[in-house]
Amino acid sequence: MSTEERRNPPAAKLWGGRFSEATDPTVERFSASIAFDQALARYDLRGSVAHARMLGDTGIIPSGDVDTIVAGLEEIGRDIEAGTFDFDPALEDIHMNVEARLTQRIGAVAGRLHTGRSRNDQVATDLALYLRDAARAARRGIATLRGVLIERAQEHVGTVLPGYTHLQRAQPVRLAHHWHAYEQMLTRDAGRFTDLDARLSLCPLGAGAIAGSTLPLDRDQTAAALGFDGPTTNSMDTVASRDAALEFLSAAAICMIHLSRMAEELVMWSSSEFGFVELADAYSTGSSLMPQKKNPDVPEIVRGKSGRVVGNLVSLLMSVKGLPLTYNRDLQEDKEPIFDSARTLGDCLEVMAGSLATLRVNVERMGEAAQDPMLLATDLAEALVREGVPFREAHEAVGRIVAHCVEKDIDLRSLSHADLQAFSPAFPAGADQLLSLERALEERSLPGGTARARVEEALAVATDTLASERAALAAENS
Ligand code: ARG
Repeated sequence: MSTEERRNPPAAKLWGGRFSEATDPTVERFSASIAFDQALARYDLRGSVAHARMLGDTGIIPSGDVDTIVAGLEEIGRDIEAGTFDFDPALEDIHMNVEARLTQRIGAVAGRLHTGRSRNDQVATDLALYLRDAARAARRGIATLRGVLIERAQEHVGTVLPGYTHLQRAQPVRLAHHWHAYEQMLTRDAGRFTDLDARLSLCPLGAGAIAGSTLPLDRDQTAAALGFDGPTTNSMDTVASRDAALEFLSAAAICMIHLSRMAEELVMWSSSEFGFVELADAYSTGSSLMPQKKNPDVPEIVRGKSGRVVGNLVSLLMSVKGLPLTYNRDLQEDKEPIFDSARTLGDCLEVMAGSLATLRVNVERMGEAAQDPMLLATDLAEALVREGVPFREAHEAVGRIVAHCVEKDIDLRSLSHADLQAFSPAFPAGADQLLSLERALEERSLPGGTARARVEEALAVATDTLASERAALAAENS
């Protein structure tokens, strides 16, 4: 390589001044992030436009140049939207791709854009803007699934199935109650994404590479222009920290775990052994070999994908662990986990909403399973408690009754008052009449219980809460 070539490597680096040799092609490939950080393009452009305008307003650069720069950036934005922008790996990342293209378009004036800015505060800004949108997109996906859960629950207030603990039949519940449980988990998930807004309210731009700038930048102006409440308060923290990203990944992981549990139930419930539900054809697949099969691949993939979303959280936690202040290039590893979790969560929310909306419920089969009289054993024990028997004694007596029924293979409900009194004289007259499914549901009328009125009330509250969430999302969008 001639000295001349060395001084002018093929794709001139924006940091080339100090260097006399071209980057090794392997290193170029290894260190480039453009293949994935192009997802930040529109945020990078917004940040650059705000920064350029501020540089003009503060008189740091001539205002005529600002117009040229902004027009150039807008043109680049149109190219990127149209898919005609040619991203160059030799230019490493989105920030340098945009700046290099700007230089090609408008010439040396482009060189003023990076005044008082570093890629370190630039990427932190891009990421904050991206995360704000991604958190909202997650909330929109969650809202849709909540809507489906509420609707299906309203349809099935009268549908009864066994509630399970340890996957053993425990007590009868309404299907509405069961689905409302997931709706509540998702409501908290949405809350976690909303909370993120508070941690993303300050603008990184102006923190520079690490210690700010000697130039009279107006950080309040760029913060306001980008929709932040103000500038961040410590330049080192700003370029070094990724905890908002970790919080996003964590909220996504928790939400995926909820989806995974829901998915696991759909897989089990659609088996012949349970036969509680049947997935719609549009949300199932067949076997290439066994003609009779209808497989629950969609919930299975959701369950499977929860692994990668949890992995993404762990991946970034490990990347950040052990980094001395402030920016280290390791932090470039934040992007793929973030983009992947955002996309995966969005997809999973969508297919779960579709699966549930189109699911056929086998009401009879659920009802039969709930008829298991043993599900009423707790009620019998509580009947004794009402007569003043200490609960432990009542539990013991009913335990013996259950063992007796199992041994003799008889229905708990077939025992007469006299039979019951043989196990505990405290059983009141009519205790043998207590054991009914309807009663078991209706007598659980505490807040959060299975009584029809309570379940309907809970669904009404959920409907209102969801309506406020939708209104908040619509307001944030406009
Ligand atoms: N592509 C880099 C990243 O994602 C941008 C910041 C680079 N800063 C630097 N000093 N090399 O983190």
